[in-house]
Amino acid sequence: MPVDLFLENCRTERGTFNIGVDDGRIVKITRGRMDASERIDLRGYHVLPGLIDAHVHFRDPGLEYKEDFRSGSMAAARGGFSTVIDMPNTVPPADTTSEFKRKIKIGERKSVVDFGLHAGYSDPSEVEGILKFGPASFKVFMDSIEMGKVDVLFRRLRDLGSGVPITLHCENREIIRHSRENLGEVEEPYAYSLARPPLAEEVSVAEAAALAYHYRHPVHICHLSTRRALRFIEPFRGYITCEVTPHHLLLDSGYLRRFGNLAKTNPPLRSAETGLSPGDLPDIDIIGTDHAPHTLPEKEMGVWEAPPGIPNLEVVLRVLLTLVSEGRMNISTIRRMLAEGPARIFGLASKGFIREGMDADFTVVDLRREGEISADEFYSRAHYTPFEGFRYRGDAVMTIVRGEVVMDDGEVPGGRGRYIACHSKKEHD
Ligand code: DOR
Ligand code: ZN
Ligand code: ZN
Repeated sequence: MPVDLFLENCRTERGTFNIGVDDGRIVKITRGRMDASERIDLRGYHVLPGLIDAHVHFRDPGLEYKEDFRSGSMAAARGGFSTVIDMPNTVPPADTTSEFKRKIKIGERKSVVDFGLHAGYSDPSEVEGILKFGPASFKVFMDSIEMGKVDVLFRRLRDLGSGVPITLHCENREIIRHSRENLGEVEEPYAYSLARPPLAEEVSVAEAAALAYHYRHPVHICHLSTRRALRFIEPFRGYITCEVTPHHLLLDSGYLRRFGNLAKTNPPLRSAETGLSPGDLPDIDIIGTDHAPHTLPEKEMGVWEAPPGIPNLEVVLRVLLTLVSEGRMNISTIRRMLAEGPARIFGLASKGFIREGMDADFTVVDLRREGEISADEFYSRAHYTPFEGFRYRGDAVMTIVRGEVVMDDGEVPGGRGRYIACHSKKEHD
C-alpha cells in the first residue's frame, strides 16, 4: 500500500532524509524510497519540525473585528506555524468550562492550523472542570489580580494533583500605579516605557519565583523583557520556564519614538542596557510571538488610551532567520525555542519533533529568500508592525499540518485545524 505523502530530500541539521507520511503521521524516516500517492521534493530548502507559537491572542470570541480564529490562524500558517496556543483574554474570557468548550468549537470551525488553549482564571471552582479539557496552562495577569487569588490557584491545582503549569504575565501593579502617577501629564508614546518600568517586572518575577518554589509547581513566565528578571529565575530552573518575544529581543524603547503606539506593548520595550538581546537566548526556554492584534484607529488614540499589543506571527521567523544568516544565531535555536520547547512545556505529546509516530507537521524554510517586511501583506487583520521595512533573509515557504499543506509559497489555501488537548499523554523525554 502506498503511503499518503512522501517528502523527499528534507535537509535538517541532522542530515538529509526522506519522510513518509500516512494518516497525518510520520511513519518512516529513511534514506530509501517509498511508494506514495503524492510526492513533494524539498531539495534546496531546510526542514524544521512544525513550529509552535505558545502565545497568541486571536480575539475570538468577542473582538473578531481585531482578529478571528480564521485570520489569525492564516497568519500563523503564513508565518510558518503549524500549531498555536491561544490566550484566554477574549470576550467573555475562557475562564469557565463552558467558555473553554465554546472556544474549542470556534477553533475547530475556523482554524487552518492545529491549536491548544490557555485557560483563564477567575473562579477557583471552575478549575477542575476546565482541567478535563486539556488546557495548556492557567494564565494569570499579575498586573490585574490580588496575590491572594493567585495563591488560591496554586493551592487548587496542588489539591487536584494537577501538574498543569501556571502561565504568568509578570508586572507588579503597585509599581505601575506609582510610576504612572509620578510621570504626571505627558503624552508622548515614549513615556509608556517609564510608566511600566523594569522594576515592575523584576518584583513580579521574584513573586512568581517564590510561588513556584513554595508550591513546587511549574510556572511559565511570558514575554520576559529585562535581564535582571532573568537572573531571578536562575536558582529555580526546576520549576520555572520563560519566554521572550521577537520585539523584546530585537527592539528597544527608542522604537516608541519612531513608531509611536504601534510599538506600544505590555511589558513595554526596554532600553538597550536593561533589555534582553540574542546573547541571552541560551538562558531562555522559548520564543512566543505574543501576537496581539488591534486596529489602526485604536492605535491612533493617545498613548494612555491606545491598546497595547503587536501582531508578530508573520514577522518572527523571517526576523530570526535573518539572525541565522548573519551568524548571530543557530537554526537549532529556532528548533529548540519554537518547536521542542513549547511542546515539552505545554505537553503537546504528538508535536515538536520530527520522529516516527509524531504528527506530520513541518515548516519548510528557504534560507536565501530575501525581502522587506510589509504589514500591508499580512493575513492578520492588524496591518502594522514596528518591524516595517526590516530587510530579511530567510522565510517559510511551506507549512504542513498533519500531512496537509496549509501554506505554499506565501499562499494559504485553507486547512482544517484540530484542537490539541495538552498534557494528556506521556510527555517528551
Ligand atoms: O501588549 C499586550 N497585549 N500585553 C498583554 O499582556 C495583553 C495583550 C493583548 O491582549 O492585547
Ligand atoms: Zn502578557
Ligand atoms: Zn500576551
